[in-house]
This record gives sequence, structure tokens and C-alpha cells, in this order.
Amino acid sequence: MAALPGVSHPAAATVPIGELSGRVVDVSGLCVTVAGLTSFTAVGDHVRVQTLDGRDVLAEIVAFRQGQALAMTYESIEGIGAGCPVFFALYGQEQRMNAVSGGLAVNESWIGRVVDPMGQPLDGKGPLLPSSNRQKRHAVPPAAADRARLGPRIDLGVKALNLFATCRQGQRLGLFAGSGVGKSTLMGMLARETACDVAVISLVGERGREVREFIEDDLGPEGLARSVLVVATSDSSALMRREAAYGAMAVAEYFRDQGKSVLLLMDSVTRFCQALREIGLSAGEVPATRGYPPSVFAALPRLLERAGPGRRNGQEQAGQMTALFSVLVEGDDQNEPVTDTVRGILDGHVVLDRAIAEAGRYPAINVLQSLSRSVPGCNSEAENELTVRARRLLAQWEDMRDLVRLGAYKAGNDAEADQAVQLGPQLETYLMQKKTEHVPLEDAFAGLAQLLGPGEAGESAAITGTQAVE
Ligand SMILES: Nc1ncnc2c1ncn2[C@@H]1O[C@H](COP(=O)(O)OP(=O)(O)O)[C@@H](O)[C@H]1O
Ligand SMILES: [Mg+2]
Repeated sequence: MAALPGVSHPAAATVPIGELSGRVVDVSGLCVTVAGLTSFTAVGDHVRVQTLDGRDVLAEIVAFRQGQALAMTYESIEGIGAGCPVFFALYGQEQRMNAVSGGLAVNESWIGRVVDPMGQPLDGKGPLLPSSNRQKRHAVPPAAADRARLGPRIDLGVKALNLFATCRQGQRLGLFAGSGVGKSTLMGMLARETACDVAVISLVGERGREVREFIEDDLGPEGLARSVLVVATSDSSALMRREAAYGAMAVAEYFRDQGKSVLLLMDSVTRFCQALREIGLSAGEVPATRGYPPSVFAALPRLLERAGPGRRNGQEQAGQMTALFSVLVEGDDQNEPVTDTVRGILDGHVVLDRAIAEAGRYPAINVLQSLSRSVPGCNSEAENELTVRARRLLAQWEDMRDLVRLGAYKAGNDAEADQAVQLGPQLETYLMQKKTEHVPLEDAFAGLAQLLGPGEAGESAAITGTQAVE
């Protein structure tokens, strides 16, 4: 029997104790209907369909209807016709889960590599080192009580984020943006600049050309050298695209559970949801919110909750998975259902703004709409005072920008407004950052303190490198 994809190494190839067969009785849309395996299989099981020209196509059972199993394929459905045999490998009870959920043989040799969701290399750099590890793609998050607390704040290397969405190790942030506003560029910056041991990057449903551009231009060789990329392009099946998210999460969990500080970057959660929508609708679910069936909104928190601190393990320091999930805000509509749900689950959000990008101010982060829920707890009082002042100035400048542009603003009537007109543009310029530039967290605060000068109580003089840790 051919090895199941994702279980290619002999150590994993927990040899099946037998094999059952059924038959394709119907092919429609993205689904094949299989007769004969119903009493032995469950939703989520993998089966192997033999095409008319003798190829093996991996498929997953997504539903049962009228005594027959509905399966979707991981590759193109072409070549499958009524009558094609379908095989289900039987494993012992213990090994069943491994085979079914497709464990990934993650190890250190994956760092610097690009793989598909089944763990097969896509970068032409030769095979990965074998491993007996089987990292479950569909793992469950640790129970809340078993989890370590968030770690100290993490240096993201990007001024606007370090200052206005200060993030702690193990925190999960959403990155909300329309298309072409600079998501990929920012993700590349984070992968290179963030103070972490390993970056795991999940690219879900991007076009092949975009993936290449991301690896070569945004990530660069130094970013790639400490990253693992799990990629399923837009032309791959909905199941593959779904697994690009689950697979990357499994890889990140592996490194986290070794005590490492991991940065997970997922681009994008929206495409993951669209893949789930395709699967759900093909399985016969009813579309509810904007065409998304209810199962999407059940799966989303189960995925996102897996990011975060690792399990507490006695005296040893638990690993941390800090995560940034990008959300494609369709039509720049912030109330779109995926946007809304993700915002509610995560510990903070960063908004990229088209108007800012159009004005050429990159990274196009809208500071006023972005927030991190661990602030102010993770910053010193002087730092909090600084960012509050900066936000107030930026908000006021935002209100007055048009007046100033029209020449309708008269200085001298309101000291605070005058200050906003003077400092607002300087702040905006300060937050601009070239994509190759690294600004450490402490320097970002020091630069802001210098720009704003002493506050009412002269607090900015008290800026130190302290960091509050719970
Ligand atoms: N930090 C930056 N500095 C300069 N230009 C940028 C920056 N970020 C984005 N851009 C410009 O915006 C374009 C789109 O960015 P990209 O990251 O591909 O957006 P998205 O992934 O959101 O579609 C880039 O081709 C580039 O011209
Ligand atoms: Mg992009």
C-alpha cells in the first residue's frame, strides 16, 4: 500500500493492520460520495481514492448522508469517476489518531525551510531529516489552568507596534488590513526583526507569485534562516489551505513546547475561513453569516486559542507562542463577520489603513485604532504617560489636519491645539520606518520621549528600561 501523505517516514508509517475498501458512487462539485465504508469511518478520517488512471488521491471524509460517506480530496478531483475504489487503512486503536489527524514529523531541520501542509518540502533544498515525532495538526489548546502566564514584553522591532501595541510573549494580536496596504511587508519585517528564537509563517491561499515575492523580497535570507514556512497557494484544494493554518500551528507548538520563544505569523485567517466555508458548504452545511456556515465560527476560536503561552512545567520556563494573525478586511469593512469574530477572540488588534498607505507613510499602522490588551500593564508608568500623550496629540492632529490644510487654522488661541499642529506631523514622520530598519523597543520609547519633551510633571525624564512582569 502507498504511504499516506504526511506519514511518509517509516517510523511514522505505523503500519496499518489492514485495509477496507469502498467505492465511489457519485462525484459532484468538490465531493465524492463513497459507499461501503460507512460503519468504519468517521468525519475527519483520511481515505485513498484510486483514480481511473491508477493514481492515489488523498481524501477526507467531511460528512455522511443517507448511509454514504462524503469525501473531499486534497488534490484535484480530476480522474475520479463512479466505481473508483476507495481505501481506508485500519490502524490499531492507539495509532488511529496519529494516522487520522496526519502528524507532522517536525524537527530542527525544518528551520529555514518551506513546506506544504503535509510536511513535504517545497523549496527544492532536499529532504528534511526524519523524525519519529508526530505533531498533531489538529491538536487542542492547553487547558487555561495549565497554561503559563504571558511572558515579558517582546521587542517587535517596529516602532509603531512597540509603542502603541506593546506586546508580551505569548500574546495574540490581529492585523487587520485591506488588500495591498502592506500586510506582507510588515509580516516580513516582524519575521526578521522580532526578538524570538523561531518564526513560523503560515501562508494560506496566496497566489504562487506572491509567495515567492514574500520569501525573496519581504523575508529575505536572514529572515528565512530562522523561519519555517507552511504554504498552500490559492490553487490548492480547500483542505490543503485549511491545513496550512493547522500545520503551521502544529509546527509552532512543537518549538514552543521545547521551551522556545516562537513567533507565529498567519496570513491570512480570512483565507483559512474561506477554505472552511468551501468545505462546509460542500458537506451540505447551510450558509449563515455572509455565506459562512456556522462551523467556521466554531473552528476559528479552536485554532486561535492554540497560540499563546505553553503548559506550565514545574520550575522550567514554559515556551511562548506570540502570534499575529492577519485578517483581510474585505471592502475595508471592519464589521465583516471574520473581522468581528477574530477581534473578539484575540488580545489586541493592529489596523493598517489605506489612507495612510496612500499618503506614503509606511508601515501604514493606524495608531489610534490599534490597541494591545496587555498595555498598560507591561510598560513603565513613564512609558504609559508618553504613549497616552502621543495618542492624544495624534487624535487632535487628526481632527485639525483638514483645517490646517485649508489654511483655516489660526494659531495662538489654544495652546494644546497649537502643540498638536506642531507635533502631530512630527510624530507621524517619527512612526515611519523603512522595511529594512530595525528599531529596538527601548530606542523607540527614548526617541518618542525626546520628540515630545518633558510632560506636565516632567515624567519623560524618568524613562528607564524597566519592564513590568506579572
Ligand atoms: N514598509 C513599506 N515601505 C515602503 N513601501 C511599502 C511598505 N509596506 C508596503 N509598501 C508598499 O505597498 C505595496 C503592497 O504591500 P504588501 O505588503 O504586498 O501588501 P498586502 O500584503 O497587504 O497586499 C508594496 O508593493 C509596497 O510598494
Ligand atoms: Mg500580501
